[in-house]
Amino acid sequence: MKEAKPGGGPCRFGVDIPLIDLRSQHRALQPKIFSALRQVFDSSVFVVGPNVRAFEEEMARFCEVEHAVGVGSGTDALTLSLAALGIKPGDEVLVPSFTYAATAAAVCHLGARPVFVDSAAGGFNLDPADAERHITPRTRAMIPVHLYGEAAPMGEILRLAEAHNLWVVEDVAQAAGGRWDGKRLGSLGHTGCFSFYPTKNLAGCGDGGMVTTNDGEVATRVRLLRQQADASVLGGRKYTHPQVGYNSRLDELQAAILRTKLPHLDSWNRFRQKHARQYSSRLKESGVGVPRLSRDGSHVYCLFTLRCSQRDGLRRHLRERGIGTEIYYPLPLHLQGAYRDPGCPEGSLPVSEMLSKQTLSIPVYPELTREQVDRVAEAILEFVHQGSEVGMEEAVGR
Ligand SMILES: Cc1ncc(COP(=O)(O)O)c(C=O)c1O
Repeated sequence: MKEAKPGGGPCRFGVDIPLIDLRSQHRALQPKIFSALRQVFDSSVFVVGPNVRAFEEEMARFCEVEHAVGVGSGTDALTLSLAALGIKPGDEVLVPSFTYAATAAAVCHLGARPVFVDSAAGGFNLDPADAERHITPRTRAMIPVHLYGEAAPMGEILRLAEAHNLWVVEDVAQAAGGRWDGKRLGSLGHTGCFSFYPTKNLAGCGDGGMVTTNDGEVATRVRLLRQQADASVLGGRKYTHPQVGYNSRLDELQAAILRTKLPHLDSWNRFRQKHARQYSSRLKESGVGVPRLSRDGSHVYCLFTLRCSQRDGLRRHLRERGIGTEIYYPLPLHLQGAYRDPGCPEGSLPVSEMLSKQTLSIPVYPELTREQVDRVAEAILEFVHQGSEVGMEEAVGR
């Protein structure tokens, strides 16, 4: 059995379709990217220079917020946000269990405790009712994750936060360009935390992240923290440090690349939405669970994630046909060695536990052709039909 090659290549059923392929995006943008990189080299300013400042302004405008601060990664965007909001040891922060480890790691880096919340039945995102059940007098914040590109239920989350006086830190790592109720994700909470890791909707060529906020004081604190809390950031004396900071700066090369890409983000997301519609219409009678369709541009499909009780068999079937897939995430955080909590044993977050056994992400990157999407859908339907021919009970999780 062969692995799908990352860049695509011939297989028995035609050319491979990887899960993600940035090469086609970069082929189209190469002259612009190379010229931007040359300018950075010519200036030889590599850290927090004119490109970072310009990109921060452009992202703030794009996200419809007053401030954006470039940092070293999405994980750092979360950590520095929480630090800037004053989260400290002993505090509790509500975090979905069904997310990437970084969401909870950021809480732990500050000595605070992530309190895991289940996903809502029928979806992937955090369940606000379950979040409310986990609130205690120590709860200070919650981190709704816009998982796979779909907006978390922000109406209920903001109401809950207001009622219990909690900070809301949006994890927008997988949803750059998405919206909720017409507003850009990253503009709804106290801060929005973006990742520019290469698999994201706005993909850098390395690590990078950003904090967005309408709170000028929080933005200033993040600016201070990202640079070892050096007083010169606030106009004070260089090499004097009023507090312990971090080294977490976005570099000029990444900012220069990301500036060439940002103007294309909405159009790339529309292609993702088009592929999602095509998959949904091809797979609607199949019994395989497909994600909610976005009619209002709110879901930006960083990932197109199926639910299938025969997930591992489907994955093998697609791999044999040269189609790349990934499981995001095979184990929810409350069952991970690093994050185990006696108060949250196996069985306590049933939706997250079930999702980790059933989800499978298939290719949805913008440059896919209609034919490629069709080929992936055909291969899934072939698996489903094979299953029903051998009389497999609940072949695909009906
Ligand atoms: C939901 C989520 N949060 C946070 C992060 C962390 O971002 P980074 O890898 O840039 O640190 C990621 C990245 O994969 C993510 O998917």
